[in-house]
Amino acid sequence: MKRSTVINIVMVLSLGIFSSQAFAGGVNSLRGANPLDEAAKEPAKMNIQDDREPITRDYVQQPPLIPHKIKGYKINVKFNKCLTCHSWANYKEANATKISQTHFNDRENNVLANIAARRYFCTQCHVPQVDAAPLVENTFDPLKTVKRH
Ligand code: HEC
Ligand code: HEC
Repeated sequence: MKRSTVINIVMVLSLGIFSSQAFAGGVNSLRGANPLDEAAKEPAKMNIQDDREPITRDYVQQPPLIPHKIKGYKINVKFNKCLTCHSWANYKEANATKISQTHFNDRENNVLANIAARRYFCTQCHVPQVDAAPLVENTFDPLKTVKRH
């Protein structure tokens, strides 16, 4: 057999091993490896953490993580459950953090009287946490200037 043919066979074999690992034991999306035009086979099981103190941010401009459960909190065109506690009108009574001033700016940086449409769907950026092992190893360390102990 020619040397190049052997190399080709080895490459094809290792590709096969690599891709089967990617779907079987390795990193996978929550909906599994089934195609986008098919429904997920079973809903992803998620163990959302219990309510706790606000979580330290890792970098400037990070959307703070949600330190509480949000099950059943509706956000649609007519109603936003998050704002019943986090709006400037309600935060004191709810003892919650008020939404950031930046959330009133539209994309041209005009300051609006109400939350900007691009900030309306809170869970686009703010997410609760699950008890899960990290998918990939991460050695990220915040800059000293933003690190809190
Ligand atoms: C029933 C009231 C209530 C509702 C509804 C609610 N929250 Fe909260 N939220 C709180 C309270 C209270 C805290 C903790 C404030 C503290 O301890 O400083 C908090 C904390 C947070 C924080 C952390 C803020 C920080 O500075 O670290 C985020 C982000 C957040 N909530 C997002 C949301 C989102 C998004 C929704 C809707 C899906 C939501 N919350 C719905 C009461 C609420
Ligand atoms: C496009 C992304 C995005 C969306 C959508 C968004 N946020 Fe934020 N949020 C951020 C970022 C980034 C920060 C931190 C920097 C800042 O204050 O702008 C933040 C900060 C916050 C804080 C902390 C404010 C503080 O003073 O520390 C709260 C509370 C919060 N958001 C709540 C909400 C709620 C409630 C909604 C929905 C009504 C929402 N956010 C929608 C990105 C977003």
